Amino acid sequence: MTDSMPPQRRSGLILGIESSCDETAASVVRAGETALSNVVASQVALHAEHGGVVPELASREHLRNIVPVVEAAMAQAGVSFADLDAVAVTEGPGLAGALLVGILYAKSLAFGLDRPLIGVNHLEGHIHAVLMEARQRGEAAMEPPLLALVVSGGHTHLYLVEPGWRYRNVGRTVDDAAGEAYDKVAKLLGLGYPGGPWMDALAVHGDPRAVPFQFHAIKPREGEQGLRFDFSFSGIKSAALRYVRDHGMQPGVEARQAALAANPAIKASEVVSLCDPQTLGLIASFQSAVVGVLLRQTFAAAEVFGVRGVLVSGGVSANRELRQRFTAEAARRGLPVAFPSVALSTDNAAMIAAAAWPKLQAGEFAPEEMTAAPQLRLG
Ligand code: KG4
Ligand code: ZN
Repeated sequence: MTDSMPPQRRSGLILGIESSCDETAASVVRAGETALSNVVASQVALHAEHGGVVPELASREHLRNIVPVVEAAMAQAGVSFADLDAVAVTEGPGLAGALLVGILYAKSLAFGLDRPLIGVNHLEGHIHAVLMEARQRGEAAMEPPLLALVVSGGHTHLYLVEPGWRYRNVGRTVDDAAGEAYDKVAKLLGLGYPGGPWMDALAVHGDPRAVPFQFHAIKPREGEQGLRFDFSFSGIKSAALRYVRDHGMQPGVEARQAALAANPAIKASEVVSLCDPQTLGLIASFQSAVVGVLLRQTFAAAEVFGVRGVLVSGGVSANRELRQRFTAEAARRGLPVAFPSVALSTDNAAMIAAAAWPKLQAGEFAPEEMTAAPQLRLG
């Protein structure tokens, strides 16, 4: 793939495409900063019936959605394909079949337009969602070295972001992702999918000291590349399961399951009345423990690596308690902290186009043989 446009004519218009999991998304972003459009076709309702993402259904939905989603993103941005300087696409990590839909489409488009194709790591995209918005707000302090917590349904990672947009993984979950633990505990309690937003809404009604979870962070330890700050969330998930079983909470769970089955559009505010104080206490205690461990590990790493700021992104970064406690802790330490807007905290393509901008400037283009990299790592 060649880049026939002379650099001086570039306005930095990048079409980003994202299809790594259950959202088909496209967005046009100018110079890594201004999103001219941001279209997301979510498959959440489809997968909710199965209580989780079904890979074959996801690929089929991406195939159905990719053309209308890209067309909508171009129309909303008010630009034509000829105006684009590059096409960027999520290379991985994610579901192989889902990734392939976006990659093959992006490849064909870039080839047809004679524009460079840029492969983006989904996790780097989440980090750039925050940076893009911080730049829009004029927050100049958000320059590396930074510490980024990427926390979603599939990932819980800490990255040291170094100058030149180089990344070093300094923490990851050794078992479940934090969002996965949220989803599993919500399901166990008869709440909807994805569970995070339900737990977030209900936690404020419960006593966070009700259940003293024996939940300890993994101690920082020396890895091959220096100190690591890893996570584990399967223990708290099992503890919640035991608590429900040992406290005879099953009838309440079944009542909520029935209420949700009868009215799938029911809101969390209407489910509060179906939760006794014990259930609300369990939810609040779970959330307090999960946010607590994310906070401890993140700020311990921020101190050790002497970063200039902290970024939090991924679906779980929408959590209100997480935002409040991270903001308070950062203020106490005099360290800037930034989160994406709620719209950009979950999967989207603006973050892919934003992450591609430094790569366009550096001429880092994807080879023709680029394909889906389901296990792609960052740093
Ligand atoms: O980033 P994302 O859309 O997809 C992945 O790459 O996984 O994240 C989805 C995850 C789900 O586990 C969902 O339950 C969680 O983010 N989530 C939340 C909240 N909103 C979404 N978790 C806690 N509190 C929230 N408000
Ligand atoms: Zn994601």
